[in-house]
Amino acid sequence: MREVAVIGVGMTKFGELWNTNLRSLFVEAALKALKDAGVDRLDSMYVGCMTSGLFAHQEHLGALMADYLGQKHLPAYRIESACASGGLAFRLGFIEVASGMSDIVLVGGVEKMHTGADVTDALSTASDSEYEAFLGITFPGLYAMIANAYMHKYRIPYKEFREKLAHVAVKNHEHGSKNPNAQFRMKITVDTVLNSTLVADPLRLMDCSPVTDGAACVVLAPVEIAKKLGKPVVKVIGSGAATSAIALAQRDDIAWLDVVEAAAKRAYDMAKITPKDIDLVELHDCFTIAEVCVLEALGFYEPGGAINAAYNGDTYIGGKLPVNTSGGLKAKGHPVGATGVAQIVEIVEQLRGNAGERQVKGAKRGLAQNMGGSGASSVVHILEVE
Ligand code: COA
Repeated sequence: MREVAVIGVGMTKFGELWNTNLRSLFVEAALKALKDAGVDRLDSMYVGCMTSGLFAHQEHLGALMADYLGQKHLPAYRIESACASGGLAFRLGFIEVASGMSDIVLVGGVEKMHTGADVTDALSTASDSEYEAFLGITFPGLYAMIANAYMHKYRIPYKEFREKLAHVAVKNHEHGSKNPNAQFRMKITVDTVLNSTLVADPLRLMDCSPVTDGAACVVLAPVEIAKKLGKPVVKVIGSGAATSAIALAQRDDIAWLDVVEAAAKRAYDMAKITPKDIDLVELHDCFTIAEVCVLEALGFYEPGGAINAAYNGDTYIGGKLPVNTSGGLKAKGHPVGATGVAQIVEIVEQLRGNAGERQVKGAKRGLAQNMGGSGASSVVHILEVE
């Protein structure tokens, strides 16, 4: 296997973008990534997208995006794994370059969610449609069940649990306020969270990631090519993916994300490192409780311990393990198929020392964790700057 580096990154602003469409979002991010990489030829392309058919009445994204990018005859593939589509696309692009099949591969993720389509219904296709969505459960509902299970498993009183959980959103909005591409740049307080509309008890509006339009792209190449480009060389040193039971009812313990643990173990083993070697993390905080459960499954906290992470200040920029420096899904936004690639963009910017106000001083190694549905699929990548 060859060593692989990320040689270019680019993303659109994330938000409620009524004046643009699916293809324009993708092409904007792709052109930025190609310019950053300084290349004009591609060997292949992967497009992560969850459900463009339901949101934008458009499938066949490999051909569509290659055409609009002006890349005639380019082999191009659309990858789907619900909200982990972007992360999985990145893994497949990485494998293609590592295998020696291709040298320059563009990996992008895109989602256009504001189209007039029924968002809650479209997102519910990432759950077990016949056994969960059919009965009326929504994504906030699924994660509310996980939150309740966590609270009971670790015997945390409701009021204490609620307040500590709010700190995750406060922290991610604080980070998002420093990110020009974030959907929400306002800072919030614990009271803002606790007084926001109840969505699915115990989760409130401010515990939820929003509905977002956006795209993110990266360019991959062998390390030998990256070394000639005169920029810090950011290598992919670990990649792991896993799947697990799609319906919550089929899991032994819904407060433990075994899918994240399995994907992370593969990535750590490949990189030959342990969690203590990681300097910063971008993870899938689609709801505040997800950030807590993911931190534990990644091995950064003991079971039941991560509820205190943001509350204690550990996961802020400047803390002992900065988490979601981009603002995370909560504040940066969550255009579902684009999220996994946008996480890689943030890690690369941080490792290159280009993150401006959000910069984690001396960051050498970053981890990105992307999740599909309520924990049925997950992808973990570890990047390191030479
Ligand atoms: N965080 C903060 N503010 C939010 C928000 C969020 N997640 N979602 C919406 N808002 C704000 C809007 O900006 C708007 O503010 P304004 O009145 O100042 O303009 C206001 O709340 C109402 O927005 P609206 O779009 O009507 O909200 P909604 O009630 O239709 O949607 C949710 C709110 C929580 C239901 C929706 O954001 C949601 O479904 N989120 C989860 C998405 C999801 O499940 N993704 C997949 C995860 S695996």
